[in-house]
Amino acid sequence: MTQTSPEAAQPLQDIHERVAAYFEAHAPAAFDPANPKVRLHEPTFGADEINAVLDTMLTTWVTMGKRVIEFEKAYGRAFGFAHGVMNNSGSSANLLAAAALTSPGAEDGLKAGDEVIVSALSWSTTVWPLVQHGLVPVIVDIDPATLNIDPAEIERAIGPKTRAVMPVHVYGNPCDMTAIGGICERHGLTLIEDCCEALGAEYGGKPVGRFGRIGTFSFYFSHHMTTVEGGICVTDDGGLADVMRILRSHGWTRDTEDPARFNDRHPDIDPRFLFVDLGYNLRPTEMQAAMGSVQLPKLASFVAARRESARFFTDALAAYDPVLAVQRETDGGSHSWFGFPVTVRDGAPFGVAELRRHLEAAGIETRPIICGNIAKQPGLQSQPHRTQGDLRHASHVMDHAISFGCHQSVDAPARRYVAEQFAAFMKPYV
Ligand SMILES: Cc1ncc(COP(=O)(O)O)c(C=O)c1O
Repeated sequence: MTQTSPEAAQPLQDIHERVAAYFEAHAPAAFDPANPKVRLHEPTFGADEINAVLDTMLTTWVTMGKRVIEFEKAYGRAFGFAHGVMNNSGSSANLLAAAALTSPGAEDGLKAGDEVIVSALSWSTTVWPLVQHGLVPVIVDIDPATLNIDPAEIERAIGPKTRAVMPVHVYGNPCDMTAIGGICERHGLTLIEDCCEALGAEYGGKPVGRFGRIGTFSFYFSHHMTTVEGGICVTDDGGLADVMRILRSHGWTRDTEDPARFNDRHPDIDPRFLFVDLGYNLRPTEMQAAMGSVQLPKLASFVAARRESARFFTDALAAYDPVLAVQRETDGGSHSWFGFPVTVRDGAPFGVAELRRHLEAAGIETRPIICGNIAKQPGLQSQPHRTQGDLRHASHVMDHAISFGCHQSVDAPARRYVAEQFAAFMKPYV
């Protein structure tokens, strides 16, 4: 079954209406002061997305196809990316970026032994794919105010083998792309942006992901918009996009924009099964793309809600600044607030564990900031890497910071409740 026949249209309409009615009946309750809960995340999707997924499944065309291409194009149009290569997670997007840049098929690529400068405050799968492709991560410290990689530390870390920089826009706070772009230009370094926490963020009015050679995004359930699991690599380089399409799918050429470019060189091999590179299977499904296409037009409203909450929390917590730091938005940037991080300053008369216990007991979920200092994680210890300086700011965040929810479902009563709980916790100290 590939098309909806007129006879099938009515039952389909009925299914849609039932799904919508179910969602209405089970809509997440607004904040309830009698049973307060402020979760790290609440679903961004509902009946529209489920119906799009159901429709896709009912066509029985479920593996990567035209819906993925449509989503890639819509995503590109929304942010001004020339090429998008959708895949099955933000981690896969980073893997694809590292694989493509080290592929023999990439022009001006990287090679085993080259160093890539990364922020100490990274996610595991920001760094692991570099190691998996023979690249050597060089871990540098953050600016404790913005929580982003410190450009001065990047400069200090550059050595004879340094070939690339891979910043993370931490929690959606865009990095200082003027400084980082300038460093990359002066030293001839490739820029790769991990934007997995930063959908909707901009620097100088330009969406993140448009500054580097490749940008990567995640559509995991708890992110600004979702395809349940999912990710995308974006680039302006058509050749590199084709390398990523090859690597996404077994190493074959079928999904490239111009397969003849590869196939004509191998007339003796069936072009449907021509493998020109060491590929993976990182493909998304048509259901993920269908869901993404419904979510994408809603993204701006989700991000606007996050910004509204963040403004409220920034104001509400300003009085505690001597002991509690909130994340400072980068000058010239527009933050998209993946969550709301707070850091207990040195010398505070309480520890982060007490603050966490208080918030959790009050029904406010918390979590650490990304991986903390990635250089302290056991997984990196036996792998080649280098550190720049003592990474004390990232270590401080690892040991003294937490974040709580700042998403589209944190409504005004929930925000006020969070502020009240901070006030109750701080009372003995102010
Ligand atoms: C900075 C960063 N990079 C990469 C990822 C990986 O994304 P995913 O969970 O979709 O694999 C995450 C996950 O949240 C992240 O925070």
